[in-house]
Order: sequence, then C-alpha cells, then structure tokens
Amino acid sequence: MTARTMFDLTGSTALVTGAGRGIGRAIAIGLAAAGASVVLHGRDLCTLDAAETEVRQAGTGQPVLRWAVDLAHPERIPGAVAHLPAIDILVNNAGIIRRAPVAAHTFDAWREVLTVNLDSVFQLSRAVGVGMVERGRGKIISIASLLSFQGGVNVPGYAASKHAVTGLTRALANEWSASGVQVNAIAPGYIATDNTRALREDPTREAEIRQRIPAERWGRPEDLVGAAVFLASPASDYVCGQVLVVDGGWMSR
Ligand code: NAI
Repeated sequence: MTARTMFDLTGSTALVTGAGRGIGRAIAIGLAAAGASVVLHGRDLCTLDAAETEVRQAGTGQPVLRWAVDLAHPERIPGAVAHLPAIDILVNNAGIIRRAPVAAHTFDAWREVLTVNLDSVFQLSRAVGVGMVERGRGKIISIASLLSFQGGVNVPGYAASKHAVTGLTRALANEWSASGVQVNAIAPGYIATDNTRALREDPTREAEIRQRIPAERWGRPEDLVGAAVFLASPASDYVCGQVLVVDGGWMSR
C-alpha cells in the first residue's frame, strides 16, 4: 500500500452526523475530498444546503445524500437507519452543550445533553455497526472532547456525556475489532464553532483559554480533518479503541 492509497476513501460511504455546520461540516468535506461518498445528517434536511454544495465541490462526482433524524429522539434511529445505504464510515459528530453551574443545571438540561451526546451515539453505532460487522469492515469515529478527560467549568452534563463517549468507544472496540470494525474517537481542543461561541464572546474566558493553548490560537474545524481521514482510512486498520487528541497542545500543558 502506498502513502496515497493508505488514505484513499474511494468506494466508501460515510455518514456524518450534524454535518450542516462546524466540525461535522469540515469533516464531511474532508472525507469527500479523500474520495468518500457522503451522507450528510441534520435535524432537518433544509439545514444542509450549504454543506451539500461544499461537499460536492470537494468531491469528484461521487454521490452526496442527505438524511434527517432528530437525535433528541434516539428511539427513532433504528427505523431511520433502515433508509440508508450500507455505511462504511460513521462519524458521530452531532452534540450539544448546556452551560450552568451544578445548582442551576436542571435535570432537563442534563437529560437533553446525555440524550443527544450519548444515547444517540449508542443507538447509531449499534444500528450502523451491526451491518459493518456483518460485512467484516467499517470505521466508527465519535467526537469526544477535552472534557472526556477534564471536568470543565459549568458543564457537568457535557463532561459526563463526553467521558461516557470514550468508555463506549472502548467497549465497542473490544467487541468489534476482531470483525474488522475499528472504533475510535477524536477529542478536539477548543475549536471556534457555535459550541464555543459563549466562551469566545466573554473576553476574560477567551483570553484565559487562548493563553493556555501552546499553539496560541483557537482551533478551526479544518484542524480535525486530518485525524478524521486517518481514522476513516486503511491507514488506521490496527488502531482500535483510541482517543486521538487534536488540541494545539492543551492537554500537554
Ligand atoms: P456546532 O454546535 O456547530 O455543531 C453541532 C451539530 O450537531 C450541528 O450540526 C447541530 O445541528 C447538530 N445537532 C445538535 N443537536 C442535534 C439533534 N438533536 N439532532 C440532530 N442534530 C443535532 O458545534 P461543533 O463544535 O461543530 O460540535 C461538533 C461536535 O464536536 C460536538 O459533539 C461537540 O460536543 C464536539 N466538540 C466541540 C468542541 C469545540 O470546541 N467546538 C470541542 C470538543 C468537542
């Protein structure tokens, strides 16, 4: 295998959740540029117009599909997956964050975050992963977080959900690695997206965060693409149950 074929996704079909904006959109574009056909997921099909245009431009004419399901209702996922083509690469990217100290962090907010960030990842990995196991090949990549390792500030539900995503990643890898399905996660650092808008609009927090990052800048969604293509490609066929941190050095500080 050459360096080029090692990262070639031609002939694969990737499903990226939350592909309409932010990290999901950048990863969808990156996977298309590496040759994959991409299924863009969103809560509503109409949120995917711009992403679909960019994904088509990045690719070389391979199909681009859209698929809608509200991940706040993970019980709907198995039925919705039945309408998808065979998926070779699943990127569990969609996620939400609710910011409040514990005393003000309602149980509803906790449940909302755990449902979208964890329950839907379990449901989707299971619904798509079983087909991968039957076909003897597949890649599942979940987007974890630095808060898979740290407690964070005012985000107890989010931190709990992202710790759990890494546990689920390892559990699935233990079970499915022998079937040719690699299950891994990417832990992004602080990336400039809607998810971190409140932090970047608070001048004190923005400066605190930026100054702690050895790379001395916030991450961009495109910074995650290399890791995603690696974990989606034959280059990572013996990488199982890992959490790849892409954070400008935050965790090493
Ligand atoms: P974002 O807020 O721009 O994107 C989140 C995506 O998830 C959107 O496309 C949104 O429509 C989708 N989504 C949310 N709830 C949904 C639902 N109920 N049904 C269907 N889709 C839903 O934020 P970003 O940063 O692009 O987030 C992507 C992932 O990266 C998330 O899992 C987030 O937790 C994670 N992450 C982000 C970091 C950052 O600094 N931005 C750092 C670490 C992890």
